[in-house]
Amino acid sequence: MHRIVSLALTLIIPAVLAVPVSALQSAPYLHTQFTFTDQMPERGDALVLLVPEGETAPALEGWSQATRDHVNRAIRASSFTPGAGADVEILAPAGLDFHRLILVGMGAVATTERHRAELIGAALSERLNATDAGGVVVSSALLGGTEAGAALTAAVAHGVDLRNYRFDRFMSDPSPRPAQTITWHGGSPDMVEGRYRSLRALAEGVFTARELTNLPGRAGYPEVFAEFAREVLEPLGVEVTILGPEQVQALGMGSLYSVSQGSDMGAHLLVARWAGGGGNPIALVGKGNSFDTGGYNLKTDGASIIRMHTDKAGGAAVVGALQALAGQNAPVHVVGVVPLSINMISGDASLPGDVVTAGDGSTIEIGSTDAEGRLILADGIWYAREHLNARVIVDIATLTGAKVGALGTQYSALFTRDARLEETLRAAGGLTGERVWPLPLEGYEGITRSRIADQINTGSPGAQAGAIFLEHFAGDTPWAHLDIAGDAFVASAQGIHPEGSTGHGVRLLTEWVLEFEGVRR
Ligand code: BES
Ligand code: MN
Ligand code: ZN
Repeated sequence: MHRIVSLALTLIIPAVLAVPVSALQSAPYLHTQFTFTDQMPERGDALVLLVPEGETAPALEGWSQATRDHVNRAIRASSFTPGAGADVEILAPAGLDFHRLILVGMGAVATTERHRAELIGAALSERLNATDAGGVVVSSALLGGTEAGAALTAAVAHGVDLRNYRFDRFMSDPSPRPAQTITWHGGSPDMVEGRYRSLRALAEGVFTARELTNLPGRAGYPEVFAEFAREVLEPLGVEVTILGPEQVQALGMGSLYSVSQGSDMGAHLLVARWAGGGGNPIALVGKGNSFDTGGYNLKTDGASIIRMHTDKAGGAAVVGALQALAGQNAPVHVVGVVPLSINMISGDASLPGDVVTAGDGSTIEIGSTDAEGRLILADGIWYAREHLNARVIVDIATLTGAKVGALGTQYSALFTRDARLEETLRAAGGLTGERVWPLPLEGYEGITRSRIADQINTGSPGAQAGAIFLEHFAGDTPWAHLDIAGDAFVASAQGIHPEGSTGHGVRLLTEWVLEFEGVRR
């Protein structure tokens, strides 16, 4: 767990940067302990009973009549019915050696969605964290020993994990992290544990993405981002290559290069390969802009610029997805490509109206220095196609304010002309709750035409202009673009997310790869 970079960060942060090096020591993300058993522990602080729909008198084997009476009276008094998400807490349950008994409604085992169960786990975690319960038993005995019951139970555990992440590396005296010992009892423990193991790998990927996205601009600049990714991925068997500014320039990626031109924290390209399967790879390309000031088209709204450390969320999602797939030993061949930049102002920075040449030789008029995401993704997508022979490309980026205007944060925007990509991305969105909604490319051709270059990086409508611009760089390779602007951060805790960066996209991309490759879960 201590594999998150501390050494690399320590070595790289130049003394002139404001972030104290000692603050970048890593910490394990989770302090909870899970065990899976069919032996019901006799005592503990809290007993949680997962109750399926239709169960009117929930009870475990061996409960006395006094216990059953107490529970049934509490159920009647609170009008508890076991719909998904309903709960009731019974203090000092008669005849049980637990301080509290919590009944949690799961809805119908066959139809409650995975994401619903995760939300139930997150809510349960909040409830437990509000008590001093250290030893917790969660029983899924009433859900039955089926695959569906095991899947739901593991999803509840996953929800507990996701909600328990904390970003406290800059606090000198952080409040203690949740540290319960949770015993998962009942059903088929091996089945639950097996499913949980995959979800735990997924959660680790989410934590990496949250951590990278939470890092302030100057703490998570391109080189640090890349080294952080290397430290997390290499121990899992992922091959990592990092191109620095000179190599980016030498390979002709003038579009990516230009965005970091105003800063000493130069452009990088992170390439991570998980070769768990054969054939040409699937490419995931993520926008890794460490901070977005807007450049000379400066962001002047204080409320929006303060959040722009989240502009590396797409890249962070790609790193997290690679980590999850490798952590699950998934039989797939995937490359992650993260163009890394920091969009700042100086005497060397790009000017509005400048023309740059991208890796594919095409020229770009910089209509706005604030449309920097598509500039770095252009070269990332081209690199995936030209140098990595990707057979399909999905890019993910906090790209446009227009996306937030169109869909808010309930959905990410999906642009693709490929029916199979649309279908599989929507399926992965439904499974994970990281939902996507298609917006059209058809009919918007030509909106990035420039008077003086091959394309301009602005246009209207805004989200489509970004997508149409990027489409050029995918060439004939099947391609989809995910605009996740607004989705990467919550100001206060919400569902499976503690406050801060959400790691949005890790779960979507990971499940999409498995779905696209037909890997059974
Ligand atoms: N990083 C922003 C997009 C963004 C906005 C992300 C809100 C998260 C929340 C992006 O680089 C940007 O500045 N986009 C501009 C593009 C415009 C200048 C063509 C926008 O959408 O306003
Ligand atoms: Mn911008
Ligand atoms: Zn941006």
